[in-house]
Amino acid sequence: MKQTLILSLLAASLAAAGCSSPPSSTDTTPTPGATTSTAATSSPAPVALAAGDAAKGKATYDGTCTACHGPDGKGVEGLGKPLVGSAMLAMKDEDLVAFIVKGRPPTDTANTTGIDMPPRGGNPALTDQDLANVVAYMRTLK
Ligand code: HEC
Repeated sequence: MKQTLILSLLAASLAAAGCSSPPSSTDTTPTPGATTSTAATSSPAPVALAAGDAAKGKATYDGTCTACHGPDGKGVEGLGKPLVGSAMLAMKDEDLVAFIVKGRPPTDTANTTGIDMPPRGGNPALTDQDLANVVAYMRTLK
């Protein structure tokens, strides 16, 4: 008896909550400021990337990065530093992608060679997903 009373009270309060929820849920639909909610991921790259495809990444690497970083990622003197053994490989995929998107000009105090690492390796046509694929390929280089 007591149980059925509690259950019916519960049902009543659930129904009440259900009735009051539609207005509050519409409150959470996109407001202009809601786009900043991507910052909640605390990642510098507010992009959701699929896992990198190393085979596709190789094709992109061979087309764009190899000129300065060498076909095997060992670097090209005076053009690009070695990627094999780079401490930056310890970075998360999305952070590495964010780095490549931005590049590192000689004017950047973090630049280590005085040579320009151009944004997206100098190929603005590359998408973030292309670069995620390149990162996957970079991780296979030894
Ligand atoms: C025009 C030459 C050039 C091209 C093309 C280029 N890079 Fe670079 N890259 C550099 C240089 C120079 C540096 C070193 C910058 C510095 O001194 O800190 C560098 C640095 C890097 C680093 C950081 C390495 C480290 O340990 O500091 C990564 C990662 C990288 N490049 C990835 C790429 C990828 C991926 C591509 C192709 C999408 C690419 N680069 C295309 C010249 C190039």
